[in-house]
Amino acid sequence: MSFGKDFIWGLATSAGQVEGGAAEDGRGPSIWDVFASKPGKIHNGTTPAVACNSYHRFERDVENLKFVGVDSYRMSISWSRVMPEGSGALNEKGVDYYKRCFDSLLRAGIKPNVTLYHWDLPQALEEKNGWVDRDVIGRFAEYADKMFRLFGDVVPLWSTVNEPIATYVGYGNGGFAPGRCNEKEGNQARHNILVAHGAAVDAFRASGASGDIGIVIDIWKRHAIRDTEEDRALVLDQDERNWKFYTDPVLGGSYSDYILSHLASEGTLMDIRPGDLELMHRPIDYYGLNVYNRVPVSVDRQAELDFSQGGNFLNNRTEYYPKAVYDAIKLVHDLYGLKIPVIVTENGTYGIGEEPRGEDGLIADTDRIKYVSGFLEWLGKAIDDGYDVRGYYLWSLMDNFEWTAGFNFKFGIFETDFQTLETRPKKSAYWYRDFIRKAKGK
Ligand code: NOJ
Repeated sequence: MSFGKDFIWGLATSAGQVEGGAAEDGRGPSIWDVFASKPGKIHNGTTPAVACNSYHRFERDVENLKFVGVDSYRMSISWSRVMPEGSGALNEKGVDYYKRCFDSLLRAGIKPNVTLYHWDLPQALEEKNGWVDRDVIGRFAEYADKMFRLFGDVVPLWSTVNEPIATYVGYGNGGFAPGRCNEKEGNQARHNILVAHGAAVDAFRASGASGDIGIVIDIWKRHAIRDTEEDRALVLDQDERNWKFYTDPVLGGSYSDYILSHLASEGTLMDIRPGDLELMHRPIDYYGLNVYNRVPVSVDRQAELDFSQGGNFLNNRTEYYPKAVYDAIKLVHDLYGLKIPVIVTENGTYGIGEEPRGEDGLIADTDRIKYVSGFLEWLGKAIDDGYDVRGYYLWSLMDNFEWTAGFNFKFGIFETDFQTLETRPKKSAYWYRDFIRKAKGK
């Protein structure tokens, strides 16, 4: 396999899932703190208030990153920790935390890859109608500008927004924070966040920061289970709504006619202002791809059920389809003639509840090893076929707050004891360490 010597090997987390320290040192609440406090929203009623407590244990995280030998750590800044009101004054203690984090990573020779928005809007802005009100675009640009001016000289890799679809899930169907359920608002919110992405890219260029900036968009390619017209139409519809909604304007420069005409006829078309499309399509330095799986679909429920009984599945009942990474990379090149490099910003899988241990006492997460090695094989093929892929981040460094699944879905290559907040490598941590060493010819 052909991962060059500059290929970036990484691990990823996000602020809202690992930091905890939710009400400490002047941090304001985010929409996830408020959402999680409502009954019935999160598995077992858990909250991210403490999570892995990286707010106090960042050195533990750096030690674990060093153990694996990664080149880079993908993390995010909690907007409401550095700007509790979402706008205006900075919270010095919050800023100081990230200063210490980046220093510590750099001292360890690990490049920070920093996401500005990983789903955790300051609640103060939600109270002003959140992502639905266009005012949020300016607020995001203001926050981004402050971060670039503070950290632009030490952070080499940035992304504006992680998986903008989460905004739609939060406003359009209520599944995520802030739990609003209005299709038209959902569409407006996801439009606004893409415009905000562009405004942040402008702020980045204006700040003179030296690194690279991109956006992270997840692709879950639909596949027709049956070779019928109805199934093919369903694939088209779901692809349009679930990921092309974001990649089309950002990588291609416009929404598709399909999306515009369907949303218009459904009465849910967003307000698109002059200049919005240009902003969404601002040149970026790389495309961050989150890829976990494909999604086989059919209009026939029975066909979907049969598929889920017959395929190649992991213990968590998700399909084992590592070619998904190759397909996604090829797709964005075919659709948009992509000229910028791709970085796989997330890929990984989860155990549900307690994962089994081997005789050595370590969590024997053989499914995770199988999954990741399969994806890396297909990623290698993509590189061999000439696609420009610069890095791979495994999700996740450690078990953490998996949004509505709470602490029940475990994505880490380190286990986290949520009582003691100690972490311990799983088998996959050793495996990934060895894989990286080998890839680097060590
Ligand atoms: C998507 C998100 O970016 C991340 O926050 C989440 O934990 C993983 N994928 C796994 O679901």
